[in-house]
Amino acid sequence: MRIALHTGKGGVGKTTISAATAIACAMGGARTLLVSTDPAHSIADVLGVAVDGDPTEVPGVPNLWAAQVDTRGRFEQSWSHIRGYLVGVLAARGMAEVQAEELTVLPGAEEIVALLELRRLAESGDFDAIIVDCAPTGETLRLLALPETIGFYAQRLLGAPQRVLRSIAASLTGLPGSAPNATVRDALGELLAELMAARALLADPAITGVRLVLTPERMVVAEARRLFTALSLHGFRVEAVTVNRLLPPHVGGEFLRRQREGQREAMTQVEESFQGLPIRRVLQTPVEPIGLQRLSEMAVDMFAAAGYHVVAVTGKADQRDWLTHLGAAEILPREAVSLADTPNPRPLLPAKWAGALDNVGGATLEALVRSTQTGGNVALCGLVGGADYRGTVMPFILRGVGLLGITSSNTAMPVRQHLWQRLATDLRPRHLADVARTVPLEALPDEIDRMLAGQAFGRVVVPLA
Ligand SMILES: Nc1ncnc2c1ncn2[C@@H]1O[C@H](COP(=O)(O)OP(=O)(O)O)[C@@H](O)[C@H]1O
Ligand SMILES: [Mg+2]
Repeated sequence: MRIALHTGKGGVGKTTISAATAIACAMGGARTLLVSTDPAHSIADVLGVAVDGDPTEVPGVPNLWAAQVDTRGRFEQSWSHIRGYLVGVLAARGMAEVQAEELTVLPGAEEIVALLELRRLAESGDFDAIIVDCAPTGETLRLLALPETIGFYAQRLLGAPQRVLRSIAASLTGLPGSAPNATVRDALGELLAELMAARALLADPAITGVRLVLTPERMVVAEARRLFTALSLHGFRVEAVTVNRLLPPHVGGEFLRRQREGQREAMTQVEESFQGLPIRRVLQTPVEPIGLQRLSEMAVDMFAAAGYHVVAVTGKADQRDWLTHLGAAEILPREAVSLADTPNPRPLLPAKWAGALDNVGGATLEALVRSTQTGGNVALCGLVGGADYRGTVMPFILRGVGLLGITSSNTAMPVRQHLWQRLATDLRPRHLADVARTVPLEALPDEIDRMLAGQAFGRVVVPLA
């Protein structure tokens, strides 16, 4: 089970990004709970469905549940003993009950409840992933630091001699007091133990990761940086940064051009401040991303570059390290994905691939099309393996596999511009500089020899001007 906490300044898109993330997890097959600890009940607004205290299924997305922590109601349950005691003490001293109740409203009560609820949901065993939409920065920090703070006071309080407790009670009420009785001590001890367990769950890097959500603005980045430091000091693992509301590169006008410039500067700060952390980019959309349809689109965009288990196929065994560095999780030899040595291949092979990029064609393509999962696409952009294709229509009809031929010279300019812009922004390859080498024109014959000898890899750029 994994827990992902989304936090950041108010209004940066925590609820939106949490919802899109939860949809992506659910679509990927994980039993996912989207839960908000923010008293502003916004996940119902964003999803467009009713949400209450207990997890309810979100219609239209299999594997997705949503819940809104009912901080008030739950707090009354867990705090009632202790509160009853305090109210009793105060009332016995002649204070009006209503006034006493008011006095015993504890600051941080909502955070306490949120922590306990998270733990309850995590321990239920009903979910593989819990995506948490937290309250804005300050409250989240209070939430995460709470068990330490409470622990500090409670240990002193519980361990203190009666005499001291009486004087604390007296100082609270302004009247000579009595010490807390055994029930109160038990309740306090239990609550403390639960809070500590909840904290342990959230501080366990194998289970919980914090994701900072921010917008590309200097003040927001500065706050996120402080939050990052504070979280790290408290021992919480920050696992990713999501930059939301980036302006798309093609929207026009002087106003937007200047705004984009500011965003670019802020992005430089983001990259400097969060080195080593994955940085996800989410574009500003023209309409509010509300409802399952728009959130799903956002989810696909957000994780398209990051979410896949990439298997690389190569005929060059010495390229393993390089391919791993570029992001391949697994590397297979060319023969493993080829039907070159199979005289009568079956029309369908076990479905392995969610999708494939094929720059070889021929026997490789024949294998890929037969082993792509239902609804998956094979994009074809090369034919060194041959221009012939041996196969049946079965994968296309029975599995709805798509074969996408990639052509560049016949692609309309607006489509190209759109794709280039995305390749330069949200889909920008992480290791672009390592993919290509630049050689002078005179060195080209050597490169061609290497290519013919099957020793070339990556791309070769020849500057002509
Ligand atoms: N990428 C985006 N493009 C356009 N509007 C967005 C985007 N992300 C969030 N919004 C809008 O910004 C507002 C604040 O987002 P929200 O997720 O509620 O922020 P938070 O939870 O951090 O307060 C909402 O109206 C939301 O629809
Ligand atoms: Mg919110």
